Amino acid sequence: MSLYDDQLKKAFDPESFRVEGHKVVDQLADFLASSTPGMRPRVLKYEDPEAMLKSWAGRFGPAPLTSFPDLLGEVLDRSNNLLHPRFIGHQCTTSLPLAALGGLAGQFLNNGTAIYEMGPVNVAMERLLARWMTGLAGWGPDADGVFTSGGSIGNLTALLAARQAAAEGNVWVRGVGSEAPAAVLVPESCHYSVKRAVAIMGFGEEAVAPVAVDDLFHARPDDFGRAFDEAVKRGRRPIALVANACSTATGGYDDLKAAADFSRSRGLWLHVDGAHGAGALLSPKYRHLLRGLDKADSFIWDAHKNLLMPALITAVLFRDGGRSYEAFSEKASYLFEKGAREEWYNFAHRTMECTKTMMGLRLFISLAAYGTDFFAGYVTAMFDLARDFAALLRESGDFEPAVEPESNIVCFRYLKRGEGDLDGLQRRVRRALLESGRFYIVQADLRGHVWLRTTLINPRTTLADLKALLDEIRAITMKP
Ligand SMILES: Cc1ncc(COP(=O)(O)O)c(C=O)c1O
Repeated sequence: MSLYDDQLKKAFDPESFRVEGHKVVDQLADFLASSTPGMRPRVLKYEDPEAMLKSWAGRFGPAPLTSFPDLLGEVLDRSNNLLHPRFIGHQCTTSLPLAALGGLAGQFLNNGTAIYEMGPVNVAMERLLARWMTGLAGWGPDADGVFTSGGSIGNLTALLAARQAAAEGNVWVRGVGSEAPAAVLVPESCHYSVKRAVAIMGFGEEAVAPVAVDDLFHARPDDFGRAFDEAVKRGRRPIALVANACSTATGGYDDLKAAADFSRSRGLWLHVDGAHGAGALLSPKYRHLLRGLDKADSFIWDAHKNLLMPALITAVLFRDGGRSYEAFSEKASYLFEKGAREEWYNFAHRTMECTKTMMGLRLFISLAAYGTDFFAGYVTAMFDLARDFAALLRESGDFEPAVEPESNIVCFRYLKRGEGDLDGLQRRVRRALLESGRFYIVQADLRGHVWLRTTLINPRTTLADLKALLDEIRAITMKP
């Protein structure tokens, strides 16, 4: 038997898979168990990018070199540990372990889900999940949505539908040059993917009509009219308004009711970027933050942010489900039979991707196993923790929060006595934390200054961890 035949036999041998799989799951379970400040003081062992690159070079070649369980130990050890309670940086969530197992099953099956027959179970699950989400938004039976790979593509997908809704002809066929140049009203606090979507759509960056934000970084409803009129004065045709629920940097929720009223009065499409904050729809305590969403035309919701799901799982949701067919209207006759455009189960009509992962599967099995109340409890607990953290900062006497948190994002800074360069101090603190690896936090520029930024997204993070963070920062800045 040739080496190839030998390897092929091993690669698809159920018993080898079972043994290797058990080893891998055991390693992951041990890693989860040890992801505590006591057992693993570091969230991240920071290494210089060049050194990291060098260390992995030459690790595969024509012949087998290392087994997966052998490699996995090193991967776990040298990766950013999102399971650790002191990972409180970006908005990427710790994975619900069960959802990661769902990911394994999904990857094992590898059903594409571009069209129904490629992934029938996942297609049905995604349809039901989308309906569940639109129900939470207060939308009726005409609402519908699809799942796509990340919030950036989600925003683009929704805005492509808005572009067609405002067009006189078929903009997909005729191109943007056939219409008067458009504008999209975008609050200054929006995620960059919104501006990028406007540029990708061919409107040019100049099509972004910025809406001013208030002291708390909310879009100012009293600036909508100015932004609109100014765009018109520049020869532009405003087609949509984007609102945040919530914004990336500070986690603030825009006034969606005011945004909806304005959009209606001017014939604009209202798109709500709920990538991070739509999870609040689940929480009886915090769902009021999304009041007015029921009047929006579209919104996105990233399950890989505030729903404990492994990346990427983004829902793009439309109040009028028919609009979801207008984002992409190319003809792919080899996939769709003639006249089959409104077949809800052939998702490729409505998504950027052709082949997609089985993303619905991970969320569906998690909701089935734990129940939606568990996720409601999670969102409420994280939002509560952010408020407790802000109170801790205020009471500390040497820290200040940037704003009162509305979600689970908290920006703050250290006010070290006698320090002249506070911005430099925050930068040094953030760098020192990255290098020590004992906490993972990030930073944001707000009001022209540098702030430390945390997202409390790991359900195992406690107020004690946050107290330890403040002590760590004090200790770092004591060092010469
Ligand atoms: C409000 C908001 N919208 C969109 C995105 C982009 O999402 P993704 O990273 O899944 O593309 C982010 C990411 O942080 C975000 O915070």
